[in-house]
Amino acid sequence: MQRIKADEVVTIRMELNGRAVEGRAEPRLLLSDFLRHELAATGTHVGCEHGVCGACTVRIDGQMARACLTLAVQADGCRVDTVEGLAPEPGRLSVLQDAMRRHFALQCGYCTPGILMSLDTLLCDEPDADEARIRDVLGGHLCRCTGYQPIVDAALDAAAILRKESRDV
Ligand code: FES
Ligand code: FES
Repeated sequence: MQRIKADEVVTIRMELNGRAVEGRAEPRLLLSDFLRHELAATGTHVGCEHGVCGACTVRIDGQMARACLTLAVQADGCRVDTVEGLAPEPGRLSVLQDAMRRHFALQCGYCTPGILMSLDTLLCDEPDADEARIRDVLGGHLCRCTGYQPIVDAALDAAAILRKESRDV
């Protein structure tokens, strides 16, 4: 493994939402700060900065990850997905995003990007996820508005639509 000095600024390259990007970072820079300040991907929010609230959740090489507990250098060469990549095209929401909208599953919305990333990953990995499993995943997210029930309803609705879509293909 390449050794990097603490104050050395290195170039980090990654595939962000399917696009090759690069930026500069000291080894101590968090992935959340790298995304927001170096790559201007401000959809990823930062709440607690110590792995508790889930607001900063992104996907790294297909796995859910806390961007506030990950150094930017650790994501070098990885595929990183953030909330900006969920919509299939400009002006069109993903099935999950649309279900969240229809169920009014957000209030201030600060926690929503992280919740969307976790639920999107869950529904991709486990299309048959039931309410208990959805609540289990939501347990990793603190929504201070406490509007969890509409989020669960939206996730169940989206899961049913996605299952139907995959059967109809
Ligand atoms: S900001 Fe990362 S878990 Fe709260
Ligand atoms: S919608 Fe307000 S903190 Fe989650």
